[in-house]
Parts: sequence; structure tokens; C-alpha cells
Amino acid sequence: MSKKVRLGMIGAGNIGRAHAEACQECTGLQVTAVCDVDAQRAKALAREYDIPHVFTGYKDLLAADVVDAVSVCTPNNTHMPITLAAIASDKDVLCEKPIAMNAQQARRMVAAAEKAGRILMTAQSARYTPAARFIKKLADRGKFGDIYYGKALWLRRAGIPKGWFQDAKQSAGGPLIDLGVHAVDLMWWLMGRPKPVAAFGVTFDHLGRSGQGMGDWGVGWNPGKFTVEDMVGALIRFEDGRALSLDISWAAHTADVYWMRIFGTKGGAQFMPDTTVYHTDGKTKLDVVPQLERWNQYAAENQHFVDCVRRREEPASPGSQSVTVMEMLDAVAKAARTGRMALIRTG
Ligand SMILES: NC(=O)c1ccc[n+]([C@@H]2O[C@H](COP(=O)([O-])OP(=O)(O)OC[C@H]3O[C@@H](n4cnc5c(N)ncnc54)[C@H](O)[C@@H]3O)[C@@H](O)[C@H]2O)c1
Repeated sequence: MSKKVRLGMIGAGNIGRAHAEACQECTGLQVTAVCDVDAQRAKALAREYDIPHVFTGYKDLLAADVVDAVSVCTPNNTHMPITLAAIASDKDVLCEKPIAMNAQQARRMVAAAEKAGRILMTAQSARYTPAARFIKKLADRGKFGDIYYGKALWLRRAGIPKGWFQDAKQSAGGPLIDLGVHAVDLMWWLMGRPKPVAAFGVTFDHLGRSGQGMGDWGVGWNPGKFTVEDMVGALIRFEDGRALSLDISWAAHTADVYWMRIFGTKGGAQFMPDTTVYHTDGKTKLDVVPQLERWNQYAAENQHFVDCVRRREEPASPGSQSVTVMEMLDAVAKAARTGRMALIRTG
């Protein structure tokens, strides 16, 4: 494809705005349309980034022949219907995380894209950070040996996001699906995508339901309508005995904590917040703090999507991999609901 890819933004909220801003740094694309059910929001984004076409209905955008591809930046429950409609209109799709409400929906989206020969990439933005790219490169070179365990501690003290995030019908869950999808995707990818077989999990909603944990994120918060968890603990086991564990909250009586680590037979790494690589030489412990390049993860993600669209190549975070991620998240949620270990049957 020699011409620029004409990209349509569907959803002009927080992440839609971040994508529009990031696209200014990208080459080979032009944002030609924006759509939001909130007309004011769509118009404001169009004004700010000089986007020629504005819509309030995504079907109108898809019918207008003004885009080649779309970026789906709407609430989780709309990802599947919008993606299926876009694929049916011969558009390639960059879909925000989580790809869908559950694995079943994700499978439908992937099958539709494969059948139509369309690219479906999940916006797992954490994979496009300088730290993740660097650690992945080391992992692929075998610098950590076998990565047998991954651990994410991502605790917000008072960070319940507002609006639809708190409504299970629109979001499918709280921090497990909102933040856990990043943590699980990233660690599983760094481990080389082993086959998950079982999960155990616990979820809590004490603070969210009782009016605590609002913080700066909670404008417009209605605890009476809080139907998701505010904290999750989970252990996911893979076929070969490896595992990863999560402790993630939107709200908890704790200091804010944010780190992820991987543990391998030859070395380990912390890749958030301060990237550090851990090795041992004889009795000498080596802690290496790399001077990472800096870039905007959303710009890297959008550039990669557009490059894949132009070259008709599979992206580095294809929708098909998100099916397995959703299977893991579904299993954690099921285990939390039933109080029993949930078996995972992938595929
Ligand atoms: N990758 C990341 O780092 C990251 C960060 C934030 C959000 N997200 C994801 O992006 C998605 C959106 O989150 P957000 O924080 O931007 O939410 P938001 O509420 O700020 O924005 C969502 C926008 O979608 C619009 N909308 C809702 N239904 C629509 C429809 N049918 N058609 C067109 N527009 C519609 C809303 O009016 C709103 O403007 C979620 O899936 C979220 O998980 C990803």
C-alpha cells in the first residue's frame, strides 16, 4: 500500500485522545474520522487534531468510505460488536484492551478477522514500552534461562476509575480485567506464551461498595452502582509447571505499589517501575540498570499497527493471543466466584 492508511478513531474518551495525540508522531497514516456517541467529545477531538470527518454512530463511519482501518477505544462491552461490524466492512482493527468481555467473544472476533483476511491487533500497550521491548529481547536471547515465575504487584490505594468501569455489564470486571489484562499479557508474553491449565483467584469489593477508594479517578462515582471487584489475588499455572501470580487493586489500605518481576533459571528482571536486570556471577550479584531509550508507547503501538496494515503482516500483539489471555482472566474470575480452582481448556 503506497497511500497513507486512513484511520478512524471510535471513542474519543481518555484513550481515544491518547491515540489521536500519538498518531501525530506516526508516519504512513492519517486520522480521517472520529466517532463518539457524545457529539461534543467527537467534535472537540476533531478540532484539536484536524480530523475531517465526525460521526456519532460507528455504523455511519464504517459506511462512509472515509477509513481503511479503525481504532476501537470504547467501553469493553462494545469492543466485539464494533470490531465485527468493522471487519464486515473490510476494515482492519486495532482494538483496545481487554479485547472483549470474555474469551468466547474474543474467539468470535478472531474467527471473523481470519475469515475476512483482516488484521485484528489488540492494543496491549504495555508490550510497546521501551522496558518491555528490552526485556523481551533479553528473554528471547535466553539471558534469563527458563522464566518459571512471574509476579505482578499493582496496588492502587484510591484509584477506582469512574463511570462504566464500575458497571460489570459494561466492563466485565474491575482491576482483574482492567489492569490484570496488562499484567497477565505482558508476563505470559515474556515467558514465551506457555499453555495455561488452571487458575485460582479471590476477589474483594469491600471498599468500592462502601464508598472508599475514590481518589482522583472517581469523579461521578456512585457506590450504589458498584458491581465489580476492587481487588484481586490470583495464581495461574501452566502445563509445564510454570506460574504467574497477581495482586492488583483499584482501592486498598496500602501504599501505592507498582512492580512486575520475572524469575528465570539464569536471571531475573523487574521491568516496572525501574527496569533492573538481576544476574549472579559466582558469588557476585549483578544488578544492571539499563539506560533505556524513551518513546511514547501509544505512538509505537499505532505505528506498528499501521506498518502491519500496509505490509499485511501479523502484528506483535495479535487478537489470537488475546483469546488465551481472556481464557486466563475468565478462569481467575470463575475461581473467585466458585471458590474452586478453575481448569483452563485453551482453543
Ligand atoms: N491501553 C491502555 O493503556 C488503556 C488506557 C485506558 C483505557 N483503555 C481501554 O480503552 C477503552 C476506553 O477506555 P477510556 O478510559 O478511554 O474510557 P472513556 O470512558 O474515557 O471513553 C470511552 C468513550 O467511548 C464513547 N462511546 C461509548 N460507547 C460508544 C459507541 N457505541 N460508539 C462510539 N463511542 C462510544 C464514550 O462516549 C466515551 O467518550 C477501554 O476498553 C479501556 O480498557 C486502555
